[in-house]
Amino acid sequence: MTGATKRQRVLSGIQPSGLIHLGNYFGAIQQHMELQHEFPGECLYFIADYHALTTVHDAEALRTHVFDLAATYLAMGLDPDKALLFRQSDVPEVTELTWLLATVTGMGLLERAVSYKDKVTQGLTASVGLFTYPILMAADILAYDSTMVPVGKDQVQHVEMTRDMATHFNEAYGSKRKPALTLPRYRLSHAPYVPGIDGRKMSKSYGNTIWVFRAGKALRKRVGQIVTDSTPMGEPLDPDNSVVFDLFKLFASEAEQAEVAGYFRAGARDGQPFGYGHAKQLLAAKIDAHFADARARYAELQANPERVEDVLRQSAAKARALARATVDRCKRACGLR
Ligand code: ADP
Ligand code: TRP
Repeated sequence: MTGATKRQRVLSGIQPSGLIHLGNYFGAIQQHMELQHEFPGECLYFIADYHALTTVHDAEALRTHVFDLAATYLAMGLDPDKALLFRQSDVPEVTELTWLLATVTGMGLLERAVSYKDKVTQGLTASVGLFTYPILMAADILAYDSTMVPVGKDQVQHVEMTRDMATHFNEAYGSKRKPALTLPRYRLSHAPYVPGIDGRKMSKSYGNTIWVFRAGKALRKRVGQIVTDSTPMGEPLDPDNSVVFDLFKLFASEAEQAEVAGYFRAGARDGQPFGYGHAKQLLAAKIDAHFADARARYAELQANPERVEDVLRQSAAKARALARATVDRCKRACGLR
């Protein structure tokens, strides 16, 4: 039996559950884009459409979300020569591995999953799929012998559970010298927490998002809805206690941050009163400019969907070859071959 490969591989998945917002960008996509240039090994990114089925039950919406997400990645700079971008459901080996892992995963492990408990508390019906979500995620990671998984804070526990499942599988089957599965590490993003317009974590499920491709008047309107306190215009403001400033920091250089923090503390800019309205204008201008090129590429891809489809198909073929090798190795290890 041959063991897991020693190659370095980055893998991450993102659910196609709606339009991409600033939390998704700074929490996930931005570092995915950086890694394809910086990481010495391969980068694999996929659209977790099977995971999305635990919450999205609308075929047309799902198809649209998958396409939009793929187009967003390409518009944000994913280079198909450097990284793979594929649909989770185009690699059936992953569901095969899910079953193998399920047989070595204790109920207790899944019952401890914070994200499952949160979703149920929020009123989501607890399907078996939602409960076993972490096993499918573990299969996603383990199928490609991934060594590093960049994620936001909320997904760290899932990567730790993946390590537990891989350890259980390796202990049950395979030899110590050549373990069947590779244990991955997680890597936290630089901006693990982006606040939404109401001050809670930015999330589709809270309806407090700012979409990355919103621009012009619509963007200014949305930024205008960010919660602020009722400090009168011209009074000093606290930049360290402001969602507007927290978001501004994501786009600004250190010098710009220091300059604008100065306006906040003085309640003035160039001798004129400075209030939250002015800060919001600065923020909207930053967001608009930051995504201008990506927005143009996104519009182009929306008009040429076959370009997106080509990338998804070619990447899936390469990803499948990797996953097939892992699943065959695991099947042999547990006596199915
Ligand atoms: P949502 O909460 O909007 O449904 P997802 O759960 O689909 O977002 O998250 C997709 C990716 O974006 C994950 O890697 C997650 O960690 C990251 N992410 C989502 N919201 C935020 C946020 N507010 N701050 C930082 N990262 C986030
Ligand atoms: N559960 C992740 C999320 O909601 C998406 C995901 C699915 C994922 N499979 C993965 C992330 C594998 C990293 C690795 O954000």
